[in-house]
Amino acid sequence: MSSIITEDIAKIAEKLGDDAHRFAGKTVLISGGAGFLGRYFLALFRHLNASVLKEKKVRVISVDNYITGSEDTGAHDPYISHVRADVIHPLSVSEDIHYIIHAAGIASPVYYMKYPLETIESAVTGVKNLLELARKNKGLEGFLFFSSSEIYGDPSPMAVPTPETYHGYVSSVGPRACYDESKRLGETITTIYHQLHKVPAVIVRPFNVYGPGMGHVDRRVIPMFTYQAFKKNPIPVHGEGTQTRTFCYISDAVTGFLQVLLKGERGHAYNIGNADSEITMKDLARMFTELVPGASLQTIPYPDTYPAGEPQRRCPDLSKAKSHVGYSYSVGLRDGLERFIAWARTEPGYRA
Ligand SMILES: NC(=O)c1ccc[n+]([C@@H]2O[C@H](COP(=O)([O-])OP(=O)(O)OC[C@H]3O[C@@H](n4cnc5c(N)ncnc54)[C@H](O)[C@@H]3O)[C@@H](O)[C@H]2O)c1
Repeated sequence: MSSIITEDIAKIAEKLGDDAHRFAGKTVLISGGAGFLGRYFLALFRHLNASVLKEKKVRVISVDNYITGSEDTGAHDPYISHVRADVIHPLSVSEDIHYIIHAAGIASPVYYMKYPLETIESAVTGVKNLLELARKNKGLEGFLFFSSSEIYGDPSPMAVPTPETYHGYVSSVGPRACYDESKRLGETITTIYHQLHKVPAVIVRPFNVYGPGMGHVDRRVIPMFTYQAFKKNPIPVHGEGTQTRTFCYISDAVTGFLQVLLKGERGHAYNIGNADSEITMKDLARMFTELVPGASLQTIPYPDTYPAGEPQRRCPDLSKAKSHVGYSYSVGLRDGLERFIAWARTEPGYRA
C-alpha cells in the first residue's frame, strides 16, 4: 500500500480513538467495497485488526458487482471476504451481521449518465434489499446509507452553506435526476425502515470527497484535472468555471462517516465535508497549474458526456455533525491535493 494511504489510515484510526473498539468481534457488511470509499474502509478495518483489535477482530464482508470498481482485491486477508454480487438482488448471508454500510452506487457524473438505470437501482432497490437484511439481523447495531450532497440539487443562495434541514431544489426529469432523485428516495426508504422496523439507520450526505485511490478513469473533477495536468493537456474547465464545490480529503471524510455510523442519532441525516474549501472550478484548475509543473487550463463548453444542470454553489453546513458526533476536518485543500498528486505520480494509470 502507498505510504500516503498508510498515513491516512493511521490518522483515521487515531481520530476514531476508543470508538474503534465498538467493532471488536463484530461483522461488518459493506456494499461497494471495491470503490474509492469502500477500499479505504477495508484498509481501515485491516489496520484496526492489526493494531487495535488484537484479541477480537472485526470481520468484513465486502460486496461489489464491479460495475465501476476494481476487481483487484489485493493480498488475501482471512478477516475480509470479497463477494461478487449485485445489491439489486437480495443477498443470502447466513452469519450474524452487526453493521451494514451501503456504499454501492455510481458516483461519478459521467458514469451515472452512462448507467442511469443501474444508478437508480443501486440506490433504491439496493438500499431496500440491505435494509431487509438489516431487519432480519436482530443484533444489528448500525446501518449507514450513503446518500449525497446532490440531494440538495442547486440550492438557493440563501441556503448556502446548506444545512440538513434544506429540502433541496431538484429536477425529477433532468439529466442528473437518476442520481439525485434515487438518493433522495433511498433516504426516504431508509427513514421508513427506521420508523417502521426500528432499523438503527443513519444517512450521510458527503460533499465531494477526494483522495488516493481515485483512478485516472474515475472522471470526477480532481482525478480528471490531475490526469490532464500530467499529460500536459490544458485542464478542461466546463463553462465559465464559476461553479463552486468544496472538497473533503478522504481521511477526514471516512472518520466522519464512521462517527456517524457509531454515534449518529438513529433516523437522522448528516452532512460530511469540508466547509472551508469552497472554490470555483477555474480557481481549482489554477491551483493545479501551481502544483503540477507545465500544467495549463482552458475553459470549454460542457461536453455531451457530462450531465447538464450542475449546481452553481455547493458548501455544507456541518454544525449538526460537529455537535452530534464530534466531527471535524483538518486537511486543507492545498495539502490534500499535494497528497493526492504525490500518490497519483506513483500510479501506472496516471503515469501512462
Ligand atoms: N466520493 C464522493 O465524493 C461521494 C459523494 C457523495 C456521495 N457518494 C456516495 O458514496 C458511495 C461511495 O462512493 P465512491 O466514491 O466510493 O464511489 P465509487 O464509484 O468509487 O464506488 C462505488 C462502488 O459501488 C459498486 N457498485 C455500483 N453499483 C453496484 C451494485 N448494484 N451492486 C454492487 N456494487 C455496486 C461499484 O462497482 C463501485 O465499486 C456511493 O453511493 C456514492 O454515491 C460519494
